[in-house]
Amino acid sequence: MKLLVCGGAGFIGSAFVRVRLAAGDEVVVLDKLTYAGRRENLQDLEIEFVHGAIEDPDAVAKAIDGAEAVVNFAAETHVDRSIAEPDAFVRTHALGTYVLLEAIRERRVRYVQVSTDEVYGSIEEGSFTESSPLAPSSPYSATKAGADLLVAGYVHTYGMEACICRGSNNYGPRQYPEKLIPLMVLNALHGDPLPVYGDGMNVRNWIYVDDFARGIGTVLERGVPGEAYNVGGPDEAPNIEVVKRIIELTGADESLIEYVTDRPGHDRRYSLASEKVRALGWEAQVRFADGIGRTVEWYRDNAWWWEPIRSGDYRAYYERHYGRALG
Ligand code: NAD
Ligand code: TYD
Repeated sequence: MKLLVCGGAGFIGSAFVRVRLAAGDEVVVLDKLTYAGRRENLQDLEIEFVHGAIEDPDAVAKAIDGAEAVVNFAAETHVDRSIAEPDAFVRTHALGTYVLLEAIRERRVRYVQVSTDEVYGSIEEGSFTESSPLAPSSPYSATKAGADLLVAGYVHTYGMEACICRGSNNYGPRQYPEKLIPLMVLNALHGDPLPVYGDGMNVRNWIYVDDFARGIGTVLERGVPGEAYNVGGPDEAPNIEVVKRIIELTGADESLIEYVTDRPGHDRRYSLASEKVRALGWEAQVRFADGIGRTVEWYRDNAWWWEPIRSGDYRAYYERHYGRALG
């Protein structure tokens, strides 16, 4: 199958490209290369690369030519950045998704919108199913929910072959170090403070990136048009436990933990029920205890990947956000 992967130079998109190339697909990547999108993530892969934004109809027309399906990962993905500067989130998620939907409506190709558990909001007990109401609580999740609703509206109105795939918190190689796990791993390796928000008891439902990538592939191949599918990880953990596990794996000192001011509107817990995608034949393969070890090892072995990030604009972001310089 010839696939257009939007946002394929990011963390999850590039893992998905690897999975699909191994399965014999032909892949075109359309990516704007924001701070989070990197050609290095696609290094040594045989793909066609189109540099452009999903909100640009000309770039989309060029990239989609001959594609049999489109999978959209392109997004602004960091909640803290969405709180500080929401405009790019609105542009990419609302306008970008609209431009893609128009392009696939004309061409009648299959479409998967990659979404997140955050569109359901926070849940104290139990797990969200696909019929749980959308109740987003940050500019990130609100704009992602808006994109999901636009997809649903297009399916209902125009009868398009589109599905939505909602993942829980991903971790693994090539994740930009603004997110909890890579940030803590790199800070621990450098002896920098480990900034834990609030009381550290917010719970996330962790999924290894390759498991999510395979889940999206399952939905692409076997999902029923118009349906949403949750793809949740096999394990949940409070943030402080994740940080302590990273300390053990890196040999860092627990005194590096620093409790800092909480994120405004911080969702307490995410949890997904994934029976619907399991019924299509998907199963998570990597437990957190194993995946976190692999992840720490990857960052330890791939300084070439993160050194340019830690010495570039990221330093300024870090200083702005955490009010202190990186060591
Ligand atoms: P990422 O930030 O690593 O990558 C995003 C990619 O999209 C980058 O390559 C970036 O350059 C590209 N991009 C951004 N705006 C664009 C635009 N307007 N046009 C074209 N390309 C653009 O993100 P990720 O963690 O790989 O997330 C990918 C998708 O998965 C997102 O839609 C996100 O909402 C969803 N998701 C992420 C997680 C997670 O834990 N990271 C969990 C569930 C769902
Ligand atoms: P993050 O990786 O930003 O993902 P999300 O907010 O989309 O779930 O954060 C995961 C959890 O870790 C979240 O509860 C916020 C918390 N966190 C910290 O405690 N310290 C940090 O420096 C960061 C980036 C996140």
